[in-house]
Amino acid sequence: MICDNITVNEKGHLCFAGRDTVELAEKYGTPLYLMDEEKIRENCRVYVNALKKYFGENALPIYASKANSFKRIYAIINEEGMGSDVVSSGEIYTAKKAGFPMEKTFFHSNNKTDADVEFAMENGVGFFVADNSEELDAINSKAKTRNIRQKVLLRLTPGIDPHTFAAVATGKVDSKFGAAIETGQAEELTKYALSLENIDLQGFHCHVGSQVFDSEVYIKAAEIMLSFVKEMLRKYSFETKILDIGGGYGVRYTESNPHINIDENIRVLSEEMKKFAAQLGIELPAIMLEPGRSIVADAGMTLYTVGTLKKIPGYKCYVSIDGGMTDNPRYALYGSAYTVMIANKANEKADMLCTVAGRCCESGDLIQENISLTSTVKRGDICAVLTTGAYNYSMASNYNRLPRPPIVMIDREKDYIAVKRETFDDIISNDV
Ligand code: LLP
Repeated sequence: MICDNITVNEKGHLCFAGRDTVELAEKYGTPLYLMDEEKIRENCRVYVNALKKYFGENALPIYASKANSFKRIYAIINEEGMGSDVVSSGEIYTAKKAGFPMEKTFFHSNNKTDADVEFAMENGVGFFVADNSEELDAINSKAKTRNIRQKVLLRLTPGIDPHTFAAVATGKVDSKFGAAIETGQAEELTKYALSLENIDLQGFHCHVGSQVFDSEVYIKAAEIMLSFVKEMLRKYSFETKILDIGGGYGVRYTESNPHINIDENIRVLSEEMKKFAAQLGIELPAIMLEPGRSIVADAGMTLYTVGTLKKIPGYKCYVSIDGGMTDNPRYALYGSAYTVMIANKANEKADMLCTVAGRCCESGDLIQENISLTSTVKRGDICAVLTTGAYNYSMASNYNRLPRPPIVMIDREKDYIAVKRETFDDIISNDV
């Protein structure tokens, strides 16, 4: 199996976190998002322990909550000692309502509105990650009104192609995010931040991309950032306190994705960064990483009920399920690969080539194409899509007025609802 929290029991049913998924589907209905709480905690601990072990007590992993944002998750990552990356007033509001310590939040995005800046300051967001000079102006002027100096990091682009798919590559010079080091704009932005009275510049941030398996990418990005840190010290006597090198470690969606040993990657990264900093003659700032996907992806699974089976001789076989691009738009958007199984027939041979389709009125509403499922699949079977904990619920929509599924948290002993299933009344709640 692609992850150690997935097994098959004596009934031939797929189990997640040791729990029979067919029973969970029966108890909560489908479509259903499951989240394995112990796996989330285990993933958090890998980062917390490795960062402290290799970079020291000042290092902090922050959870990129765009990967999956709901109240309970902020409580869990807080208990595990992580900070949080938030990208909108909505995420700030959710974190705050969950009792998350706001001083440990880092506010990203490439276009914070004046209202966002006000809302974030009002709610005590710890750090703003400023993307451009207009944002710096907005943060400076709001901070002035409040008579505070706002802690800020600057988002820079180190000019790296992370060899990943274009939609999630963000560290290249022509990215919509941040200020490029190569063009001199990063230096200009730093100079500008240092000139503003109510900005307390703490350091720099970069993010090279998502679903990255090549650890060289981080080493390269870190070296470029450290060289910049050195330049800012030499030219402006600016001492960088924090260096945040973003998120992005890849996860296993299918057997063909490699396993990454994150602890080992962080160890190597720390060695290379320490060596490079020594060559430059600078101290390493406090290091931060911002994992999203690798905290929650393999802690998630989605269960559906199979409806129709449509065989078009010589062409295709469609297996239709009771969810689709509304709860998982990633195949429709990026062609993302997933592992799909029939949960109540988990021991049967996957001997039929088929396409798993959703229920939206749209041909592109597919979950996977040309995969194999058991040829005995029929209406009423439970279909499981694995590794759906990241960027599924957070990207879900109500297209075709389909209610979003609930999120049920599970572990070996208990299961509880963390997000309720939407009702039709929820769907029309803002209609006037
Ligand atoms: N930090 C920043 C500034 C980011 O933009 C992101 C992701 C992360 C951290 C977390 O990256 P992760 O560890 O999750 O790879 N919707 C796309 C992914 C978009 C990623 C956006 N930024 C998908 O479904 O694949």
